[in-house]
Amino acid sequence: MSDRMVLTDGANPVLRAIRTRRVVRAMTDQPVERTQLEAVLDAARYAPSAGNRHLHRFVVTDDPAILRVLRMVSPGMVQRPTAAVTICIDHPLAADYGFGPGSTGLFVDVGTIAATMLLAAHAVGLAAGPVTSFSRAAVGVVLRLPEGWSPELLVCLGHPAPDQPPPMGRRPLLSWRDLTRWVATGPADAGAADRPG
Ligand SMILES: Cc1cc2nc3c(=O)[nH]c(=O)nc-3n(C[C@H](O)[C@H](O)[C@H](O)COP(=O)(O)O)c2cc1C
Repeated sequence: MSDRMVLTDGANPVLRAIRTRRVVRAMTDQPVERTQLEAVLDAARYAPSAGNRHLHRFVVTDDPAILRVLRMVSPGMVQRPTAAVTICIDHPLAADYGFGPGSTGLFVDVGTIAATMLLAAHAVGLAAGPVTSFSRAAVGVVLRLPEGWSPELLVCLGHPAPDQPPPMGRRPLLSWRDLTRWVATGPADAGAADRPG
């Protein structure tokens, strides 16, 4: 296989997983296997974290009654997951490392963990969707979070239903060129431009 094929034609399993992962907003009532759940959690510990400090903790439930209540306090949870992982910032631990509650790295880490979990779920054959629209206070109570842990993002997990709602926003997929600006080289007044070729 040539290097070019590995980079471009979908033969690379990592790139293929990145391209084919989609948020799933309709799930069946089939439970998530414990081994699948553990694979997602295990992958999450490899997510990049600011200073390699790992100041986040994951709170997991596959209890149908808890999931039902979680959904009631989470307007962004369109799907009915059969498991959910809540990514929490452990603020007392973060404070020990000198990170205040507004530290950017803490929130960037939530994103790197969420992205890693979503891809891992996809890789092990699970449907997944992130949710940030929820009542922080209510989720804290429902999950019996320890003092100082703030719930930041829920990763819903389950199995995909045959019929899915249309994707959110429905904007055409942007190309990488639409999203990218190359830094101009040469005279300062040349401005940034698309790199030719
Ligand atoms: C920070 C963040 C918060 C999100 N919150 C929600 C949410 O509350 N509910 C939801 O259904 N999707 C949520 N999403 C999923 C996005 O809507 C989804 O990624 C986007 O529509 C693109 O779809 P795709 O990931 O399938 O390509 C969230 C995504 C991110 C990155």
